[in-house]
Amino acid sequence: LTTDRDEFWLFGYGSLIWKPPPHFDRRIPGWVTGYVRRFWQASQDHRGTPEAPGRVVTLLERDYWASLTDHHDHAPDRVWGVAYRIRPDRVAEVKDYLDIREINGYTIHYTAFHPAPPTTASLSDSPPDELPRAYHDGAAIQTLVYIGTPDNDQFTGPQDPQALAAHIYKSVGPSGRNIDYLFNLHEALEQLSPESGDEHIRDLAERVQAIIAAEESRGHDPQSE
Ligand code: BEZ
Repeated sequence: LTTDRDEFWLFGYGSLIWKPPPHFDRRIPGWVTGYVRRFWQASQDHRGTPEAPGRVVTLLERDYWASLTDHHDHAPDRVWGVAYRIRPDRVAEVKDYLDIREINGYTIHYTAFHPAPPTTASLSDSPPDELPRAYHDGAAIQTLVYIGTPDNDQFTGPQDPQALAAHIYKSVGPSGRNIDYLFNLHEALEQLSPESGDEHIRDLAERVQAIIAAEESRGHDPQSE
């Protein structure tokens, strides 16, 4: 792992992928291992309300997930997402803010992030001497990550995919419609790298698309109710 003590990196596997944190100066696609991403975290503050919580993603430790019965019984070895480096002059401020920030059941953890090999496009964006050392030597970077662990109140446990899709379809909160969170995540993961697609997310997005098509053919739009 990199040991640059003054570097502070944050790993995003959910909304952070398309909604960056404040004060970052580098954004790198890549992955972490040992986890499985699932839409098993209830959201009362962003994509739902306390009365009608929506659903967002969390990470499960892979061994724990393997002990559960999940209809989606495969999961990629790599959980793809994005690492952000916080600008050195803002690290203290952002750390303070992150430590005191309570995001609806998520807690702070640290994990090793593996930067994806640079693409021609990303290389042309940054001069080589400004790229993280990991780009050159393949080292992992220590990153802070928010995880909704199974002992938090918002953790739902395994969900039937069709019931979950229907739940996402009808949920809405202060940050917007739950379907937009799902579609943004699906699109972002399809675009990060040719390998970054996630079958759990793709399947849910397809199920929700099918619900939307069926409702539209009935001339029905519950989001406008
Ligand atoms: C994420 O994108 O990694 C994330 C965002 C908000 C809460 C937890 C995780």
